[in-house]
This record gives sequence, C-alpha cells and structure tokens, in this order.
Amino acid sequence: MTAPARHISIVGGGIIGVSSLYYLSRALSRLPAGSTLNLYEAGQDVAPAASGKSGGFLALDWHGTATADLAELSFRLHKELADEFSGREKWGYREVETLSVKFDSNRSRSKGPASLDWVDGKHVSSSSTMGGNGTTAQVTPRPLVRHLASEALKVSGVSIHKATRVVAAELDAASGRVKQIKVRNAHGSEEDVESTDLIIAAGPWTGALASSLFSNSEAGLPSLLRKAKKIGGSRAHSVVIQGSRPTTAHCLFTDMRYGNKAAAPEVYAREDGTVYICGGSDEVILPENESDIVPDLKATAKLIEQAAVLSPDVLNVDKGAKVKAEQACYLPISEGTGSPVITGDAKSGIYIAAGHSCWGITLGVGTGKVVQELVTDGKVSSADIRMLQ
Ligand SMILES: Cc1cc2nc3c(=O)[nH]c(=O)nc-3n(C[C@H](O)[C@H](O)[C@H](O)COP(=O)(O)OP(=O)(O)OC[C@H]3O[C@@H](n4cnc5c(N)ncnc54)[C@H](O)[C@@H]3O)c2cc1C
Ligand SMILES: *[C@@H]1O[C@H](CO)[C@@H](O)[C@H](O)[C@H]1NC(C)=O
Ligand SMILES: *[C@@H]1O[C@H](CO)[C@@H](O)[C@H](O)[C@H]1NC(C)=O
Ligand SMILES: *[C@@H]1O[C@H](CO)[C@@H](O)[C@H](O)[C@H]1NC(C)=O
Repeated sequence: MTAPARHISIVGGGIIGVSSLYYLSRALSRLPAGSTLNLYEAGQDVAPAASGKSGGFLALDWHGTATADLAELSFRLHKELADEFSGREKWGYREVETLSVKFDSNRSRSKGPASLDWVDGKHVSSSSTMGGNGTTAQVTPRPLVRHLASEALKVSGVSIHKATRVVAAELDAASGRVKQIKVRNAHGSEEDVESTDLIIAAGPWTGALASSLFSNSEAGLPSLLRKAKKIGGSRAHSVVIQGSRPTTAHCLFTDMRYGNKAAAPEVYAREDGTVYICGGSDEVILPENESDIVPDLKATAKLIEQAAVLSPDVLNVDKGAKVKAEQACYLPISEGTGSPVITGDAKSGIYIAAGHSCWGITLGVGTGKVVQELVTDGKVSSADIRMLQ
C-alpha cells in the first residue's frame, strides 16, 4: 500500500506563511504522490500586513539564546535567496553599515561620521557602529514575499488563495488529527477543504484564531494551542520618504532631542533611494480584519518631522523630498515568552509559527525552512529551536 497523500494548509500570507510555503514547495516531491499545498490569505494579496510594511532590517548576531541559531540560519538563507534570484534588483537586498546616532539640535559643531552625508552632522553628538562587515543587511519585505510566493507557485500542487479566510478547522474524533478546514471567500461563500496538516502563521491574529478555529471540535485539543492563544499584536507606525538626492547604505538607530522633544526613530536608507522610518508602538487594539488597520496621521506626521530634522537637505518634504507611504502595522507578540512560537506535532498535524515581534523579517525565511522540516521530517535539523517549541 502506498502512503496516503498529504494535504497541507497554511493560514496567513505574511513572510512566515509564504516562507513556509516556499520551502515546502521545494520538498513537495518527497511527499506521497498527489500531495498538495494550499495557502490562504485573508487580504487581497500576500504581505498586506506587517510583512509588507516592515523595515526589513536584518541582523545576524543581535539575538538572545532562544533565537540566536535560527537568526544565523535565516541570515544565511536571506543571502542565498538573494544570490539565487537576483534579490538585489528584485527586493533591494544589500549589506549595510548600522550606526547608533545621538542627535541633539541644541548642540552644534559636533561631527557625525563623514560617510553619512545625508544626516545633519553638526548636531550629531555621538555615533558608534552597531553592525557591518556582513553582520547587518536589509531587504524590502513586500517584493521579497511576493517573489517567494511566485517561485512556490511554479511547483504543481501548490496554490495561493487570496481574499480567503480560514474560519474553522475540525479534528478527527478518533485520531485527534486535523481532518478538514472551512474557508470563506470575499463573497461570503464557504467551502470545506480536506487537510491532513494545518500550519497557523497568522501573525498577531494567531491568538484569536487559535481560540476560535476548533470551537466545534469534539476531540481533545492539542496542548500546543495554549501557546498560540497567547500571541497578540502591538501597533507601530512607519513612513517611507523618497529623498531629494541619493543616500548611503546605512541603517540608523537614533536617539534624538530637538526643541523640547525627544524621539528614537529607526531610519533605514534603501537601495532604491527611499528611506524607511519607524517609531515606537502604542496600545490601539488589533482589528479583526487587516483592511481595518489605519494609521494615525498624527503619529506619521511626527516621523516626517523627525526625518526633516535629522536630514534637512535630503529627507525634508519642504525641500523636494516626497512621502511615499504613511502606514501602521502590528508586531506579532507572544505574551508568554516574548520569543516566537515554532512548534507542531505529527500526531495532531497542527503547526504554529508566529510571534516574531520586531524580528519577523530577519527570522522569516529561516522559520519557513524549519517549519518545512517539522512538517516533512517530524524534526528540525537546520537550527536549534528547542527554546521556541
Ligand atoms: C513598524 C514595523 C517595523 C518592523 N521592522 C522590522 C525589521 O526592520 N526587521 C525585522 O526583522 N522585522 C521587522 N518587523 C517585524 C516583522 O514585520 C514581523 O515580525 C513579521 O512581518 C511578521 O510576519 P507574520 O507572517 O508572522 O505576520 P503578518 O505579516 O501579520 O501576516 C499574517 C497574515 O495572516 C493573515 N491572516 C490572519 N488571519 C487569517 C485567517 N483567518 N485566514 C487567512 N489569513 C489570515 C493576515 O491577513 C496577514 O497577512 C517590523 C514590524 C513593524 C510593525
Ligand atoms: C570592518 O572591519 C574593519 C577591519 O577589521 C574595521 O576596521 C571596521 O571598523 C569594521 N567595520 C564595521 C562596521 O564593523
Ligand atoms: C533646546 O533649546 C530650546 C530653546 O532654547 C529649549 O526650549 C529646549 O528645552 C532645549 N532642549 C533640550 C533638550 O535641551
Ligand atoms: C471582517 O471581514 C468579514 C468579511 O471578510 C466580515 O464578515 C466581518 O464582519 C469583518 N469584521 C469586522 C469587525 O468588520
């Protein structure tokens, strides 16, 4: 008798779900004949939420013990993917020098690093190197996620269902293994889909989903759902500004004082001449639907003001710089441990990959790789993720 086909469903088309889809598409030929791979994304396209609005800064060795090994794997995979698919042109992959910059508009005659010619150096009271020489890099996240999705779709048996929400899942009462899921499209029509494996990669929505998905199931729920239920979100704002002239390959972690104000925006110059600027998070509760996330324009105006103070010649909208995006998104936060949850078991066929907080792009592709190993091999060999399971 031949082994029965696997029907793997992924909930969520952010970087975690799509990276899982990508690496699973590479392993699909090793699964029993007729196996399929389906990804469901509630939004209109992949990466509508944090994975499309994130900074895309990548750090090799800035991580705690729980994620250090995964970060090393993922940092290397980012480089390999960029080499294989021309990531420099397609999603702005490059190595960057990363600086900590203290800026004080009340002090002058200070001197910033000479190479950083787009920052107002006379108010830089100190700066130090945080990364470089292959330890920090960057990507533009949305085109990266879209590219991985398009590569996965080239494999037969792989599908992506946009504007389609996973609304329920059912376990087999006898075996306790996932049996089918219910999906709802934008017109409200519902369909049951046979699933032998279910990967929940719903970012900040993971907690709510883990609590609601199995509401009609009679079988005992696997304990790994308890960890998933603790994953929620925290809102943060960002802007993208097209500078009036080119910038250098620098990412800045700032500490600014100007007038009677203080702020600490992160400022990432990108390959395409735009600069991404993001600020701290606030307490506004996560809406049920991604499409209902709207930025508070007072928060983005502050970021635009800080950009002009830091870079009066290049990032000043009064002097030719252009605002390309004002946006908000939610960091997926695991209340339990603060670390991502990457776990699953072959018995239930349920896998969780979420809660990456401010490192989901750095850790995203590596997470996809270890999820693939969990699903196809039942164990992870590429990185030590024991503290995340
Ligand atoms: C302002 C900001 C800046 C950041 N900067 C960086 C950075 O520089 N470097 C870095 O490494 N990380 C950064 N991050 C963190 C990173 O963006 C996130 O950790 C990462 O994008 C999370 O990816 P995800 O796939 O888990 O979640 P998401 O991108 O939120 O994707 C989850 C998806 O699931 C979908 N979904 C939810 N429920 C359902 C359902 N029932 N059915 C179908 N689909 C569903 C949602 O629509 C969504 O698209 C930043 C985050 C923010 C907010
Ligand atoms: C890179 O290495 C060189 C030589 O070891 C060193 O002088 C320089 O400071 C390093 N730069 C960074 C950003 O670490
Ligand atoms: C900077 O100077 C202004 C005007 O003199 C003053 O109001 C403000 O408090 C000073 N800010 C700091 C951080 O010292
Ligand atoms: C979210 O969207 C679905 C349809 O996609 C809709 O039925 C639901 O009411 C929306 N939720 C809210 C809070 O608007």
